[in-house]
Amino acid sequence: MKKNLFIAFEGIDGCGKSTQVKLLTESLIKAGHKVYSTFEPTDSQIGILLRSVFSGQIETNHHSIAALFLADRFHHLLNKSDGLLAKMEEGYTVITDRYYFSSYAYHSVHMPMDWVIEANLPCANMLKPDLNIYIDISAEQSMSRINKNRESTELYETLENLTLVKANYYAAFDKLKATESIYITDGNRLPEQIASDIRETLETL
Ligand code: ADP
Ligand code: TYD
Repeated sequence: MKKNLFIAFEGIDGCGKSTQVKLLTESLIKAGHKVYSTFEPTDSQIGILLRSVFSGQIETNHHSIAALFLADRFHHLLNKSDGLLAKMEEGYTVITDRYYFSSYAYHSVHMPMDWVIEANLPCANMLKPDLNIYIDISAEQSMSRINKNRESTELYETLENLTLVKANYYAAFDKLKATESIYITDGNRLPEQIASDIRETLETL
């Protein structure tokens, strides 16, 4: 597999992104890659603020949330110590749990998708994933995994919302298929099977 790729994992809540980021990171490190795995919302002050919104500690509106995610993404890209651009420059293979397709899918439930895409254009121009990996599960499966694993649910975690978010992911993939590299994988299988398909796809880049 090529080195120094930028790989973004996408999907609705509970689809298995963190599980796959971990499996891919481990297997690439074993194969001798320098790997930096990361996530959005980040653990910066902006990301911490976003998590307070999701847990219901802070109440705000959907436009502010979309703008905060964009600010968090700029920080994720540009911060000098462990920013995405710095890590790419240092030769790492960078794997992120969520990137701008999450914004397209989650925020366009509440505002026009084109607005969200345009607002994120500077990010796409700075760093576009070599592959966006979408792990596909149904909104029902997502809710059942969330309910099994957590005592409380977050702001966007309802069956109705996740159904809309999933439809938005597909609308965004369709809209951007000419300029984005997208791989959709069936998330309703054993984690190892999914991981093996992902590795195979990455070999073809
Ligand atoms: P995400 O990061 O997308 O929220 P996680 O990787 O944290 O998802 O997985 C959510 C829950 O589903 C966890 O309890 C995890 O163990 C479980 N899980 C992950 N992958 C699978 C899979 N392929 N099949 C069944 N359960 C899974
Ligand atoms: P995350 O911590 O990845 O949750 P999960 O592991 O359950 O998938 O993300 C928290 C929430 O943030 C999730 O509901 C998706 C949402 N989100 C947005 O609404 N916009 C964004 O740009 C991003 C990155 C995430």
